[in-house]
Amino acid sequence: MKEHLVIFDTTLRDGEQSPGASMTREEKLRVARQLEKMRVDVIEAGFAAASPGDFDAIHAIAHTIKESTVCSLARANENDIRRAGEAIKPAKSGRVHTFIATSPIHMEKKLRMSPDQVVEQAIMAIGWAREYTDDVEFSAEDAGRSDLGFLCRIFEEVIKAGATTINVPDTVGYNIPFQYAETMRQLIERVPNSDRVIWSVHCHNDLGLAVSNSLAAVLAGARQVECTINGIGERAGNAALEEVVMAVRTRGDVFPVETRIDTTQIVPASKLVSQITGYPVQPNKAVVGANAFAHEAGIHQDGVLKHRETYEIMRAEDVGWAQNKLVLGKHSGRNAFKARLQQLGIELESDEALNAAFARFKELADRKHEIFDEDLHALVSGELVTPEHEHYKLIYSHVCSETGEMPHAKVILSVGGVECKGEAGGGGPVDATFKAIESIAGSGSELLLYSVNAITTGTDAQGEVTTRLAKAGRIVNGNGADTDIVIASARSYLNALNKLHSSLDRVRAQGDV
Ligand code: KIV
Ligand code: ZN
Repeated sequence: MKEHLVIFDTTLRDGEQSPGASMTREEKLRVARQLEKMRVDVIEAGFAAASPGDFDAIHAIAHTIKESTVCSLARANENDIRRAGEAIKPAKSGRVHTFIATSPIHMEKKLRMSPDQVVEQAIMAIGWAREYTDDVEFSAEDAGRSDLGFLCRIFEEVIKAGATTINVPDTVGYNIPFQYAETMRQLIERVPNSDRVIWSVHCHNDLGLAVSNSLAAVLAGARQVECTINGIGERAGNAALEEVVMAVRTRGDVFPVETRIDTTQIVPASKLVSQITGYPVQPNKAVVGANAFAHEAGIHQDGVLKHRETYEIMRAEDVGWAQNKLVLGKHSGRNAFKARLQQLGIELESDEALNAAFARFKELADRKHEIFDEDLHALVSGELVTPEHEHYKLIYSHVCSETGEMPHAKVILSVGGVECKGEAGGGGPVDATFKAIESIAGSGSELLLYSVNAITTGTDAQGEVTTRLAKAGRIVNGNGADTDIVIASARSYLNALNKLHSSLDRVRAQGDV
């Protein structure tokens, strides 16, 4: 019998700390539903004390999710922990995850606390957290650069105080697999009450070793891995969930553990997170990259045709690539459309939003023969900004682009219900369209990112555009999709402007805590 490996997903917390990757409450809910569908054990939904928006998103996720434990992060102080405890209250299964730094450099320079004070604070933190739940995780921030003797001491104390999971983060991605595994082995051996808790790893990818370090720690006894979809996260990111899960599954001969993840949900989760955050997945990314199962060399193609396992260690369909199936067509009705959205975990806030999305679906079905789940995700992302939040709306767009001439765009927008016309020239049709929109909106925002991605294959594929705008310390991502790339770009830009205009921005400002 294999032991269970707990998969703790922190896409919505550490992942959201990737620059510009913050999500709205609705976006977080969509990701949480997908994580639940994928059978993740623990969803770290956010950092409740960071902002009212973060609190609200965690609370909503705790209310909605039934099959995964919902967790909030908290620093080891009373206010943070009470906010976390309140945020997870509606959860069927809720966890408080509290942390304090334990490395000499963090204790001395950042916390300005002595090791004794840090131990004292950690014990009190566990006590406060236990008032809300008996599922309490303790992390020693920067454990990867902490003194082993001190880690043994603090872990023994917090276990006595009631911590049930002990996390050993390599916060700055400094460790090397054999060394990190040895730390984990020693901790489990030397902490006298180590058998009362689950040992956990949380590795950052600064040296590209996050997954290797996590797996090495599993071989040394860790039974929880903290990870994110597509490996997004602070700086170089976290260990990628899909890589950890597939390594454990594919190399069952090496790992004495198994997860309960439905691996066929991995690719849909990857696409959803990429689309919402605007972080593209590199084509050669393991498991979820577009080329992860593509065989280019003739010898490889020949081998795979003769016997698949000659060059494939995993099956594309096992991680959800084959799920890219036709779902709806031109003749599908509103109910079928709504039901499919629900299956995809997409809840539109109002009937108007559903009607608008359905109208867009019909329009798309006229132009694009086959409609896939990915198309639906893209199609509704703009609609998640409900009509009352939609200050700017595209009514008309025209662009003229010819060899030797400067492209010129004309747009008509509805601005708070009033029709406004704008026009501008630009370096290309998209540039001209953005300038024409800006001539009306006058937002003064800074364009941080513009990215285009073909959602499915074929020249009639929808182009999915992400536009990241910054204004007065706020950063928002706008999404837009259409078979016409200029329209997709305009929608994406307007989606971002609407988020800037309304309170529907990301749940907290980056760097709040
Ligand atoms: O990297 C880290 O140390 C963290 C902790 C808060 C667990 O994210
Ligand atoms: Zn982290």
